[in-house]
Amino acid sequence: MAVIETIVLAFWLMLPAYVPNNAAVLTGGGRPIDGGRTWGGKRVLGDGKTWRGTAGGFLAGALLAVVLTLIAGDVSAAIGIGLPTFTVAATVGLAGGAMLGDILASFAKRRTGRERGAMFPGVDQLDFVVVSLPLTALLATDWFFTWFTWEVILVVVVLTPILHVATNVIAYKLGLKNEPW
Ligand code: CTP
Ligand code: MG
Repeated sequence: MAVIETIVLAFWLMLPAYVPNNAAVLTGGGRPIDGGRTWGGKRVLGDGKTWRGTAGGFLAGALLAVVLTLIAGDVSAAIGIGLPTFTVAATVGLAGGAMLGDILASFAKRRTGRERGAMFPGVDQLDFVVVSLPLTALLATDWFFTWFTWEVILVVVVLTPILHVATNVIAYKLGLKNEPW
């Protein structure tokens, strides 16, 4: 498969996992998931992981998966690249896995003494991939292995940190995010 086709496919496949983190920044606030609780003297997750942000992020990813599913046929025909629709299980795996990965990363950050908003290079950029891909493979096994070939996974691992850094710098410059990571 041509490189450009693989990149387009990887981006399409990952959109429901990319959007939740950014949507959470916009919808976040209110009661933190950990309810302020601490573990070993540190917050379990911290104030940066809220119920509202998590729900908003997941719903944004799920809504996008529905929209992409509705337009998949037309877009595939227009650009001549076969693009998949998203099953319910795939949607839950991608959007839910992205939010879960982000939450687990905050848990790891707090355990390693990093305050809310602290940088955690590598983890910040790939946390949601590391959880959303295995979760999708678990929940939507046939769908996952049909579309996520090793070429696609390679592109995802290279493309995701670049997109993550770029979108966070933009969100920071727009005043939506406190740190550019
Ligand atoms: N956010 C949220 N709920 C989530 C994820 C994010 O409410 N599950 C919102 C919070 O307002 C958060 C912002 O999005 O401050 C940015 O997300 P992120 O960078 O993941 O959180 P940080 O504040 O940097 O906290 P942490 O150090 O735990 O990553
Ligand atoms: Mg952060």
